[in-house]
Amino acid sequence: MTIAEAKLIKIREQVQEHLSLSARSTMTPHRRMELERLIRTQLIRENAVIVAHYYTAPEVQALAEATGGCVSDSLEMARFGRDHPADTLIVAGVKFMGETAKILTPDKRVLMPDLEATCSLDLGCPADEFAAFCDAHPDREVVVYANTSAAVKARADWVVTSSIALDVAEHLAAQDRKIIWAPDRHLGDYVRRSTGADILMWDGACIVHEEFKARGVADLKQVHPEAAVLVHPESPASVIALADRVGSTTQIINAAREMPNDTFIVATDQGIFFKLQQAAPNKQFLIAPTAGEGATCRSCANCPWMAMNDLEGLARVFDERDNEIRIDPGLGQAAMRPLERMLVFAQELNTGVLGRA
Ligand code: 13P
Ligand code: SF4
Repeated sequence: MTIAEAKLIKIREQVQEHLSLSARSTMTPHRRMELERLIRTQLIRENAVIVAHYYTAPEVQALAEATGGCVSDSLEMARFGRDHPADTLIVAGVKFMGETAKILTPDKRVLMPDLEATCSLDLGCPADEFAAFCDAHPDREVVVYANTSAAVKARADWVVTSSIALDVAEHLAAQDRKIIWAPDRHLGDYVRRSTGADILMWDGACIVHEEFKARGVADLKQVHPEAAVLVHPESPASVIALADRVGSTTQIINAAREMPNDTFIVATDQGIFFKLQQAAPNKQFLIAPTAGEGATCRSCANCPWMAMNDLEGLARVFDERDNEIRIDPGLGQAAMRPLERMLVFAQELNTGVLGRA
């Protein structure tokens, strides 16, 4: 067994343990109201705002919205945190999202309900091994996914999120630049197939999206032939091949709103259903199957690290001894360069400077 395989097995064991723990936790409506009141008071007292990802629990997303925070994909979380005037950002997501917020706004305090909330992509790309990989291929532009540590970002020329990955790769391919792509091999493979870019791939994967099954999606599609299939590009190529739309979490939500279909099969974390139902209340959303032949269904379309963000944790975020994201200033500056490059690129795309209004 290789070291990478052993690491993945360990991660899967932790996931299983966490999922069985969270399945046991329940909250009474009274406790929920009590916690919401407490969090609202603290947000005002500390001039703080919640920046939440679509995969967090519905009650976390609802509270973020109701208190003037944001619920979004990782690109918009970065932008929102950078531009919001609050002194403190409470990031309800996973660690790389908190780190991104801190890198972009080093003067703000960035807190997270649980600093152990990580990501299998981040875990699967240790900075020292990645630096050696890059050193061995100095002729290649280094493009890393946002789901990485600050140290990995500091080694990169570009950071991308799934909503902008294709555009950046197309831009580099048009200049005949060769690329190192890390860490998600499914996203990288999708980008390579879509753009024809010359990509050398790091071997990482998202343990949640990797479990979607093409066979299961095809079977479900037989039962619901009218359904459109929406797929996050961290999913395997065989699942992407069945998609009517492939895109980031925000792009999936937009597709559900815009497409004429009444039913959708969705291959991404189930947390997104809260926003999908808000965006298209009269439509039906079905989770893409993770079970079937050869299935392990360890995550069952629920990111165990996103699930670490709950109201209890948010209520404790100012009390705990160490819930603060801290990044060495030198490292932060190095990581800020490729991150800002992505944000400038995104803005230029949106304003039409780069030819796509
Ligand atoms: P988005 O950039 O689409 O929000 O995805 C982040 C993520 O972690 C997906 O698993
Ligand atoms: Fe990472 Fe996958 Fe969880 Fe997203 S869903 S945070 S990529 S483990």
